[in-house]
Amino acid sequence: MNLLKLVKENGVLLAPSVLSADLWRLEDDIRSIERGGAHLIHLDVMDGVFVPNISMGFPLLDALRERTSLPLDVHLMIVEPERYVERFVKAGAEIVSFQVEATYHPHRVLGMIKEAGAKAGMVLNPGTPLSAIEHLLEEADMVLVMSVNPGFGGQRFISSVLNKIEALVSLVKQKGLSTVIEVDGGLGESTIPSVVKAGAQVLVAGSAVFGAEDVESETRKLVNLAKLSL
Ligand code: DX5
Ligand code: ZN
Repeated sequence: MNLLKLVKENGVLLAPSVLSADLWRLEDDIRSIERGGAHLIHLDVMDGVFVPNISMGFPLLDALRERTSLPLDVHLMIVEPERYVERFVKAGAEIVSFQVEATYHPHRVLGMIKEAGAKAGMVLNPGTPLSAIEHLLEEADMVLVMSVNPGFGGQRFISSVLNKIEALVSLVKQKGLSTVIEVDGGLGESTIPSVVKAGAQVLVAGSAVFGAEDVESETRKLVNLAKLSL
């Protein structure tokens, strides 16, 4: 999968987060986001240790992999991600991002993901400074900036993160890189314009998409809003 090409072609991507979907009617919801123009499917993997919640894992990737053409964007909120990243790539993840706070060896983890054949992303909690990843930026395909504390959908956007996105855009430019910037948490109609203006290129939205009455038209609306905000 060519993530950079997808970003260049579309300007900004929408990655609905299945965490907020109703698993009873997951197939309908996935078809709705496909028709609505979503670009990726965001999957939040939580271990109950790194974050105070437990969510999904390999069985869900197995269920989705052969049945949707949308690339799977896996966000690992687990301790010691090095233990599982290869398995997630084998299970069909096209992008694997891990929390940098959850490993002593982020450089090694990036290498493992890329070696296994997926795009590699580093995730920063709202309280983690950019300096934590600055020297690894060359190695990463993507940086995911959390705009809520990870663990749950439906939380309020933390607006101080906007400065961090802008600083990351400058850092990427200054280094002459093309690292993709994803933002996750509290994104919807009222927050999308400002994160896109700050420089976000991939937008994760859970409750805004799957909490809507009409998932397809909500997806389309947010995709269009994101493009108009460029
Ligand atoms: C939170 C997850 C998010 C979550 C976002 O830990 O990483 O992906 O699904 O949900 P909303 O869009 O509802 O804030
Ligand atoms: Zn996420």
